[in-house]
Amino acid sequence: MAWNSLSQADLDGKKVLARFDFNVPLDGTTITDTTRIDSCLETIQHFLKSGAKKVVLMSHLGRPKGKVNQAYSLEPVATYLAEKLNEEVTLTESCTDSGIKTLLGLPNTKIILLQNLRFHANEEANSDEFAKALSSYGDIYVNDAFGTCHRKHASTHAVVKFFKANDCFVGPLIEAEVSALNNVLESPKKPFVAILGGAKVTDKIKIIKRLLPQVDQMLIGGAMAYPFLAAKGLEVGNSMCNQEDVTLAKMILNGSGKEKIRLPLDHVTAPALDGEATACGNQEISEGQIALDIGEKTVREYSQLISSAKTILWNGPMGLFENEKFAKGTFSLAQAIAENTDCFSLVGGGDSVSAINKSGLASKISHISTGGGASLEFIEEGSLPGINALKFGVN
Ligand code: 3PG
Repeated sequence: MAWNSLSQADLDGKKVLARFDFNVPLDGTTITDTTRIDSCLETIQHFLKSGAKKVVLMSHLGRPKGKVNQAYSLEPVATYLAEKLNEEVTLTESCTDSGIKTLLGLPNTKIILLQNLRFHANEEANSDEFAKALSSYGDIYVNDAFGTCHRKHASTHAVVKFFKANDCFVGPLIEAEVSALNNVLESPKKPFVAILGGAKVTDKIKIIKRLLPQVDQMLIGGAMAYPFLAAKGLEVGNSMCNQEDVTLAKMILNGSGKEKIRLPLDHVTAPALDGEATACGNQEISEGQIALDIGEKTVREYSQLISSAKTILWNGPMGLFENEKFAKGTFSLAQAIAENTDCFSLVGGGDSVSAINKSGLASKISHISTGGGASLEFIEEGSLPGINALKFGVN
């Protein structure tokens, strides 16, 4: 098997079966963030310009757990694609209905969007039978669903079995994501600063272990900072802190590379999530208070370390940034990253990407990953099942 780039594919007169990640946030039938679809438009246009006879698009949306659920219909995606591409997009009833073969035979139907793959339990079961049915819609297979490459599902994995090696292609989004991630993981320019936030140490333990030997500084924030403070014997008030996280934090703080870990020096606290915000100038948090953002001293220290970095990796917000009372830490670090114009910066993970978009500084970041879980798993494991399927094939 080879890593065939889509740029080398001869698409003329071919039926292209393409897996994208159109798993976008919805408010009813309104798409609230179209980034993932927007990042695929150029590739779909490339299929059409290169003479593809049919373009069959596949994606999942949400987690309908193998059952048809109209709340997760790809209808809003079909409408948005049609508008942006200025082409008719035909949404099928399911991924296996007999009408698909008819559509493929109609001369005027160009773009077909298969209904949500996850309406079929066989998608997540990585079923050969389902993958074979999908493969029958295309002469060639393209995977550009980076955000779903950490899933070993029929449309990202088993489907590869039913195409010749030369007929499987990797799309430009996956290529760009892999190259940006490898840039950081394999040859980071020093100083390399990782900023890690988020809810739990348990969720980030693998990434901490993977990155600690490589980074010069690891800046910790968000709720996961408090088990570290508790592990040092400091008072954390009512901040989120379970025993498992404290035990893991203790292990990290006693292990090699511990001197690279930076923890918040001060905080913004409140008695409840919707309570009044108070600046807490100490590392210890008073009884009854919950720390919900990093404080000003911490912002200054972290921003200074960010300003001299040559490589920055950011995963996870510094506080409850969705609430503007606790957003300053996250947005200040976004600003510090944006101001460092002499570095390679990579932001990955759903919450940090949404924070960077909200801050209006996205254009100042070298690479913003479209994959939440996928980019995290890539950093932890060095590759992903969907990528391995394209590289090495599936038996
Ligand atoms: C994502 O949003 O991270 C991807 O689309 C994968 O979705 P999943 O976590 O439901 O598999």
